[in-house]
Amino acid sequence: MRRSARPDGATAWWQDAVFYQVYVRSFADSDGDGIGDLEGIRSRLGYLELLGVDALWLTPFFRSPMADHGYDVADPRDVDPLFGDLAAFDRLVEDAHKHGLKVTIDLVPNHTSDQHPWFQAALAAAPGSPERARYYFRDGRGDDPPNNWTSIFGGPAWTRVPDGQWYLHLFAPQQPDLNWDSSDVRVDLVQTLRFWLDRRVDGFRIDVAHGMAKPDGLPDMDPAVVAVMAGAQTPHATDPRFDNEAVHDVHRLIRRVLDEHPGTMAVGEIWVDSDERFARYVRPDELHLGFNFKLAQADFDADAVRRAIDRSMAAAGSAPPTWTLSNHDVVRHVSRYGDGAAGTRRARAMALVELALPGVAYLYNGEELGLPNVDVPDWARQDPIHHRSGGAEEGRDGCRVPMPWEGTEAPFGFTTGESTWLPIPDDWGPLTVEAQLEDPASMLSLYRQAVEIRKTHASFSGTELEWYGAPPGCFAFRRKGGGLICALNTSAAPVPLPPGEVLLSSAPLEGGLLPPDAAVWLA
Ligand code: NOJ
Repeated sequence: MRRSARPDGATAWWQDAVFYQVYVRSFADSDGDGIGDLEGIRSRLGYLELLGVDALWLTPFFRSPMADHGYDVADPRDVDPLFGDLAAFDRLVEDAHKHGLKVTIDLVPNHTSDQHPWFQAALAAAPGSPERARYYFRDGRGDDPPNNWTSIFGGPAWTRVPDGQWYLHLFAPQQPDLNWDSSDVRVDLVQTLRFWLDRRVDGFRIDVAHGMAKPDGLPDMDPAVVAVMAGAQTPHATDPRFDNEAVHDVHRLIRRVLDEHPGTMAVGEIWVDSDERFARYVRPDELHLGFNFKLAQADFDADAVRRAIDRSMAAAGSAPPTWTLSNHDVVRHVSRYGDGAAGTRRARAMALVELALPGVAYLYNGEELGLPNVDVPDWARQDPIHHRSGGAEEGRDGCRVPMPWEGTEAPFGFTTGESTWLPIPDDWGPLTVEAQLEDPASMLSLYRQAVEIRKTHASFSGTELEWYGAPPGCFAFRRKGGGLICALNTSAAPVPLPPGEVLLSSAPLEGGLLPPDAAVWLA
């Protein structure tokens, strides 16, 4: 039975949901081309139901030249043939709903692809034309770009076109930034939202939700910030490229459309350091949820994790907090925590921490199998971050390697073809779904049990936490309301358990003690 997260007893489905992020290219391939697709996802819905998650977040599957693997959208209202077609999307949504799974999709409003008809028209049009006004075209400063902004993917944020003007791209040059002062841009977004809502999606994940609005006059960045910001995701407080006031108008617009479709929701990808500024994105007339990456940035250290939890709770304001350990942009947490047996033990512990917290958990496909980050060979690397840095940055391919499903040899049932878009390591046999499904000690079994207990046990109700005193290197919190206790031990010694009946532990308890690198749930 679902618990109530609100004092009035009413719970919207997303307020305490477990979302599962499907990186579409890497989940399951139905047509043998080595790239995941919509039919592949549909064929694995039974697995997702077994895992027990409530909702899916599908990364972009829209028409795209794939310069940033789909985050460069050429037509936001169609499916790229690589992934299927609209009929396949409709079948997926229908079947997902039958399996009790909500479907949310990505929305990429900050930029389009350079192959989008609007950008092609802008290139063909003259400086100052309405076609160029949908983007940021500017004259340079002599032979230099209009300002000193850098791209998140490295290098300048401006590219020059043959007539001498420059256009802005906060990401790759193939991702020109849209100008949100243009009414065409706003009208088009509403059309896109309605298009997918009419196809029965349950919500959206808003890409770069702290982007979109740009300050008047596009002032320079502080040169000291330019130096430290290269490649960093979280903008400095003075960074003029992000978190500008007018971005909130965009979120209010999105919210107005979603409010016409009760039961739908939006979560923003918000890289903003200040908790106060973060909370502004989830005010009652803006986004329902904000992705907070503090947990994904914290080391495996009780104090650091506790700080990340406190700050995430504060930043969520009156909205439910969200929790993420991994996604398609960051190093997988098994590897962040040290790889090997220790990395896996710590990842097990952190899964229990994440799933014990009030609010919304986002799991990233493959974390339930304990997949580590992969050292992708140079010849196979695809991420524009890697290429734009001239190979200096590793890029994000290592966390995007396809899922191993079954068998003892690559491609492990991911595809009927011979190869996969990123190679799967040969030694992933023990990590497949098949190998883990019946093994009670596997990572997959831990996730299945944890999700099940979280969904059904009364101790998981309540939206607030209280912290207990705990030995150094450890913490314990209790959910006010239901009373669930979660204890984490990041120290090198076993520690006594808090009182209570053990519901689940990430490692065997030794003589009533919680071992190092472990977490436990008690009620
Ligand atoms: C955030 C997405 O998660 C990332 O994968 C993408 O490269 C950038 N936004 C640009 O769209």
